[in-house]
Amino acid sequence: MTLYGVGLGPGEADLVTVRGKRVLEDADVVYSPGRLSRSVALEHVPEERIGDLDFPMTRDEEKLRSAWKEAAAEIAPNAREGDVAFVTLGDPNVYSTFGHLRRTIDAFHPAVDVEIVPGVSAVTAFATALGVEIEAGAGLSLREAAGGESPTGPDRMILFKVTDAPATHKGLVEAGYEVTYGRRLFMEQGETLVTDDPAEIDERDYYTLAYAERADLEIEQATAAFERSDDDRTGAIVAERDDGTPAAETPTDGAVGAETAADVTELERTEGLEHGDWNRDWY
Ligand SMILES: C[S@@+](CC[C@H](N)C(=O)[O-])C[C@H]1O[C@@H](n2cnc3c(N)ncnc32)[C@H](O)[C@@H]1O
Repeated sequence: MTLYGVGLGPGEADLVTVRGKRVLEDADVVYSPGRLSRSVALEHVPEERIGDLDFPMTRDEEKLRSAWKEAAAEIAPNAREGDVAFVTLGDPNVYSTFGHLRRTIDAFHPAVDVEIVPGVSAVTAFATALGVEIEAGAGLSLREAAGGESPTGPDRMILFKVTDAPATHKGLVEAGYEVTYGRRLFMEQGETLVTDDPAEIDERDYYTLAYAERADLEIEQATAAFERSDDDRTGAIVAERDDGTPAAETPTDGAVGAETAADVTELERTEGLEHGDWNRDWY
């Protein structure tokens, strides 16, 4: 039947998607490649349905290939008879072990169907945890920074696998970046930490990422006007009383319930606004 690659999200059990949870509950076997993913899966399935897989801690490609072939050979018969799941933290298609399994299954067990259930990735979860907004029009690059590396170039980067924060920090600051670190974000296992001081996280922990932004980036948001003094505010911006009601009446454009052509244009514009595209000149 089907092998599902299920993204578990960053670690907290209730950040598994509704679909992911349903697939885990229905699967005959839920295969887990590690301790952390196992502990999250255990929140949704009983231990007797967990299938542990062993992968050697090595960079030796030959050994890794044979471990993946063994894992695929164990999973394939169950995936032909019924539905099984393979869990990964975050999303199965983002820097994940699942890609190796999928390719091995495709090569040696082509009769097995494979489906992926996306998960909340650290790629997006970091933004909430670190209080970062990637605004419309902004670029964001993904890099790895294991062993003290300091990749540079893009205006904004998420750095994965930050295992030597002080060394990575030094290189980034010298290259003109401001950096914030996040450790064990949205994870039940271990202490969550957000800091811009690399000394606080000098102890190695694989579940550490960094967000680096060029210090000289100039970002001018239309809503920056809200941060100016009250005198600068235009009449179109209505302050709220403490109970949330408007402090004064304000004319609206009546986009809700639009009926005229002008209203429809306004509605289309409003749909763009939902995606943060209000400062584009194609309106
Ligand atoms: C091999 S990647 C796996 C990414 C995962 N598939 C995802 O979509 O989030 C592992 C790296 O992601 C980052 N990471 C993943 N989950 C994290 C979390 N909850 N908190 C902080 N960093 C995390 C760390 O940098 C870690 O070294």
